[in-house]
Amino acid sequence: MKIFVTGGAGFIGGNFVYYMLKTHPDYDIVCLDALTYAGNLETLSDALENPRFTFVKIDITDRQAVFSLFDKERPDIVVNFAAESHVDRSILNPEIFLKTNILGTQALMDACKEYGVKRYHQVSTDEVYGDLPLDRPDLLFTETTPILTSSPYSASKASADLLVQAYCRTYGLPATISRCSNNYGPYHFPEKLIPLMIINILKGKPLPVYGDGKNVRDWLYVEDHCSAIDLIIHNGSIGEIYNIGGNNERSNLQIVELLIKTLGKGEIKFVRDRAGHDLRYAIDSTKIKTQLGWVPETRFEDGIRKTVDWYLDNRSWWENIVSGEYTNYYRKMYEERG
Ligand code: NAD
Ligand code: TYD
Repeated sequence: MKIFVTGGAGFIGGNFVYYMLKTHPDYDIVCLDALTYAGNLETLSDALENPRFTFVKIDITDRQAVFSLFDKERPDIVVNFAAESHVDRSILNPEIFLKTNILGTQALMDACKEYGVKRYHQVSTDEVYGDLPLDRPDLLFTETTPILTSSPYSASKASADLLVQAYCRTYGLPATISRCSNNYGPYHFPEKLIPLMIINILKGKPLPVYGDGKNVRDWLYVEDHCSAIDLIIHNGSIGEIYNIGGNNERSNLQIVELLIKTLGKGEIKFVRDRAGHDLRYAIDSTKIKTQLGWVPETRFEDGIRKTVDWYLDNRSWWENIVSGEYTNYYRKMYEERG
């Protein structure tokens, strides 16, 4: 079995590569990644030692390159993680989100069609459902919740999902979609909430909380997301959407306070809110649990401890990032926020 993993030099794709190498000792994995600002070959350094793993630097919107790689490698399964993934960046510059997240998905699916790939899996997000009110804890996103996006990022991901469903119905593409809540864990790029706060605490910088910090996210340890995708690509039904969530809602303020407690220091600074900021995400994962037997294994407190330890033990991984081009992004994003 040969699996193409796009975006494998990023956070979740990288964790998925390690998960698959470990749990399927007879599979070959080919990672396709353009190595954008968010892609990092250091994330794959151990995988690169494994003869069952190959890395190819490729932009998924480059149709010719994509088709020739499919022609050469003939994958059985394609799992598409490659995306522009940061909401704040999508507010600054939506265009690249539309290009990569929509046209990149199309190029991959066209290649899957051409080369008879047995399964195409689209890694999507709960953000396609928009948000839920803070004062209705009874409401959760299910797979039938209407799509109602808030940010250019979520709009691009929702567009891709619709295209996947269209390819499935019109061309018979054997596709599945998963919509997951916020992930956390090792190799998470420092621009996102949890790693940003850990790194700022370690560097003695203020902790920038948007708005009043009451926005709620449903957090899932990244390895539990990987196990869910593994189940879907093997046992999921074609044409189906599966929600994946941690059942673990926390306000941003609760997250930051937990990190301050875990690391023993840190100073919160409330800053200007994100435009269009989604209030609350909460996922109902009943379908994947009952139909595919998925069980998330990592308790939040354990996952946070493991994550903090990883950032403490892997300083060079994130120091290389935060000392480079990222400095300019941070200055632009946070100094203007006040
Ligand atoms: P990430 O930003 O850490 O990684 C994205 C990877 O995609 C990078 O390695 C980057 O180089 C690569 N990439 C970007 N554009 C590309 C292109 N044109 N061609 C080839 N490669 C390209 O993202 P992540 O957090 O690991 O998210 C992975 C996927 O999971 C995304 O599709 C995202 O929408 C989805 N998702 C993320 C979360 C989360 O909490 N992070 C939750 C649900 C769903
Ligand atoms: P983020 O990690 O960007 O994920 P998403 O927007 O996809 O959920 O942000 C998680 C939450 O944390 C979101 O409500 C915005 C908030 N946030 C801050 O308050 N400060 C920050 O510096 C960042 C990056 C995020």
